[in-house]
Amino acid sequence: MNKVINIILLIVSVAFVGCVQGDKPNKENEVIEKKIEALIRKMTLEEKLGQMNQITSYPNIEDLSNLIKKGEVGSILNEIDPVRINALQRVAMEESRMGIPLMMARDVIHGFKTIFPIPLGQAASFNPDIVEIGARIAAIEASSVGIRWTFAPMIDISRDPRWGRIAEGFGEDTYLTSVMGVASVKGYQGDSLNNPSSIAACAKHFVGYGAVEGGRDYNSTYISERQLRNVFLPPFEAAAKAGSATFMTSFNDNDGVPSTGNSFVLKDVLRKEWGFKGFVVSDWASVSEMISHGFAADAAEAAMKAINAGVDMEMVSGTYFKETPQLIQQYKVKESTIDEAVRDILRIKFMLGLFDNPYVDEKAPCIFYEPSHLAAAKQAAIESVILLKNEKQTLPIKSSVKTVAVVGPMADAPYEQLGTWIFDGEKEHTQTPLVAIKELVGSSVHIIYESGLAYSRDNNTQGIAKAVAAASKADVILAFVGEESILSGEAHCLADLNLQGKQSELLEALSKTGKPLVTVVMAGRPLTIEKEVEQSDAVLYSFHPGTMGGPALAEILWGEAVPSGKTPMTFPKVVGQIPVYYSHNTTGRPANRTEVLLHNIPVEAGQTSLGCTSFYLDAGFDPLYPFGYGLSYTTFHYGAPVLSATELKEKDVLTVEFEIENTGNYDATEVAQLYVQDKVGSVTRPVKELKRFMRVPLKAGEKRTLRFELPISELAFWNVDMKYGVEPGEFNLWVAGDSQSGSSVSFKVVL
Ligand code: NOJ
Repeated sequence: MNKVINIILLIVSVAFVGCVQGDKPNKENEVIEKKIEALIRKMTLEEKLGQMNQITSYPNIEDLSNLIKKGEVGSILNEIDPVRINALQRVAMEESRMGIPLMMARDVIHGFKTIFPIPLGQAASFNPDIVEIGARIAAIEASSVGIRWTFAPMIDISRDPRWGRIAEGFGEDTYLTSVMGVASVKGYQGDSLNNPSSIAACAKHFVGYGAVEGGRDYNSTYISERQLRNVFLPPFEAAAKAGSATFMTSFNDNDGVPSTGNSFVLKDVLRKEWGFKGFVVSDWASVSEMISHGFAADAAEAAMKAINAGVDMEMVSGTYFKETPQLIQQYKVKESTIDEAVRDILRIKFMLGLFDNPYVDEKAPCIFYEPSHLAAAKQAAIESVILLKNEKQTLPIKSSVKTVAVVGPMADAPYEQLGTWIFDGEKEHTQTPLVAIKELVGSSVHIIYESGLAYSRDNNTQGIAKAVAAASKADVILAFVGEESILSGEAHCLADLNLQGKQSELLEALSKTGKPLVTVVMAGRPLTIEKEVEQSDAVLYSFHPGTMGGPALAEILWGEAVPSGKTPMTFPKVVGQIPVYYSHNTTGRPANRTEVLLHNIPVEAGQTSLGCTSFYLDAGFDPLYPFGYGLSYTTFHYGAPVLSATELKEKDVLTVEFEIENTGNYDATEVAQLYVQDKVGSVTRPVKELKRFMRVPLKAGEKRTLRFELPISELAFWNVDMKYGVEPGEFNLWVAGDSQSGSSVSFKVVL
């Protein structure tokens, strides 16, 4: 961990250290359970169903208060005014018969006011500490207005950048997502849920949502049980074990069963296998949407299926409250099932300390945008930036550069750089690259700004000539392109991932000036930018970087910070390659990169499949950039990994030592990655799987010997008999700077 992070951790933790309480001893848990039982004994069925009912806030406070007074509401989402929150809470505590506090919820996904990079960007940092800090800061800011529950982290594995929600998750990899998900849960929930600055996390969307067919939101998935268990469930299991207070079901149906009615995942896996003790909330109206799915005939059947499957709280569609009394009379739902759901909900309310401390301090000084919060957001943005290309060491910009042309629709777009899910973010507080660059370079560099296009989808080419004129006067061109924030996120999927509007034309015109062209992409997903990369001398990729994106990028461009981000998912060359991801299974005919591509096939060539492999005639096999890829201003050399043993048993821990040397001229940080391949299995296995990673700060010229420890038990997978275990045999192992580099060493696992 570097110095900046240490300082930030210290500042952020000092801010809430007074309230931290350690883990509750079992006795306290017993006390909570007794209190829950005492409440349940006194509650009417309606009051129990009220606890299971989450509504969205609306302006008329009298109506809201009446519902709460009657005990019909357990949680409210989207109320962020502390005065109203206290007023509503007072009704729940003092005017409802049972005096049960409300849980106030909000989507606080990558920051409340201080916006961090989108989660996909945070994943590019490969730094769980910065993710934890981001979630902690989000919790501190959100809880200061009375929010005690967020719907994050989103830990859906997705291998499809067409899916708009790719922005909200940690990318394509199961292990990286598991690590980041746990960090996020820890950050939101702090040392104890009982701390007033802690907010309950919600692991979502359970499960498989990232695999929606065609990358089209809300679509169906067809994930086999083995793939579910090997790829999609592990991040959720890790979140459950890290204590995530709640889980949210997903919108998709998997193999015909909507998640909100899927008792296999909600009961057998989540409750029985993992021992989850928190509660499950549906997604927005996903209970009643089972009617649209054609999985329930009406609201009553939808409520029945969701309750019996194990969904404890219903978000906004109100079928539980209305339909359950008759379902109980008809013996379609048992009252004991309702009691179980209410127990789980009350347990979290007790753990949050809401019964003792339901109100927020309305008069507390505002802690939004604290300097330590902004510093952490900047550090996160710096660590999220990926250097994809740097020909002739175009970057960092040299002191000899006296005139710079700043162009492109994302150079000064304070709203757009915040990214998706920023209900509470404020563009007035955003620092854009243009403003930050001017501040950083002062009068030493002349900055000429011409956006060229007004926004990312702009098709009006009139401004391009002006941008080219500015570029012609400059020593270096900095072109900021990408996507507006509304082009990614929920319900915002794309079938075409090329740059929108006339951005490609803008870059082409700029490249023709012959001036060094640095392209900075700010987007919510990997875009297909093969041509634009070719035309640029250097390319930085910054997933929407949030409030402090401008200063982060300015420092990287001028070499005050060195890029260290790595791609958290594979970048396709063209959309037709999707799904393209590094840990695909081995096929019977793996591509070997000697394939004959489209233009090399003779006319009237005879048909043959002999010697052919799994690839596209027009796009080959390789992606534009593989998973884990990212350059630095320096270079790193890896020594061959040295293993503690070459024959190991399941109970053993493999130690992998490797040398890494900074062979260039900049102090920098490298993300060292350890991959493993199980060569032969009872089912086909991925060609590689990430098993460990670490950020390694190295001074220019410094060489260090480092070590990964890998328990052999972590090589387990769900085998042909759907049993979880390690299979004996040969394994390959790599330690490298991305998923495609390095040479392998091998070891054996024996029984
Ligand atoms: C629907 C989204 O799918 C979910 O992620 C979000 O938390 C809820 N709406 C609440 O806003």
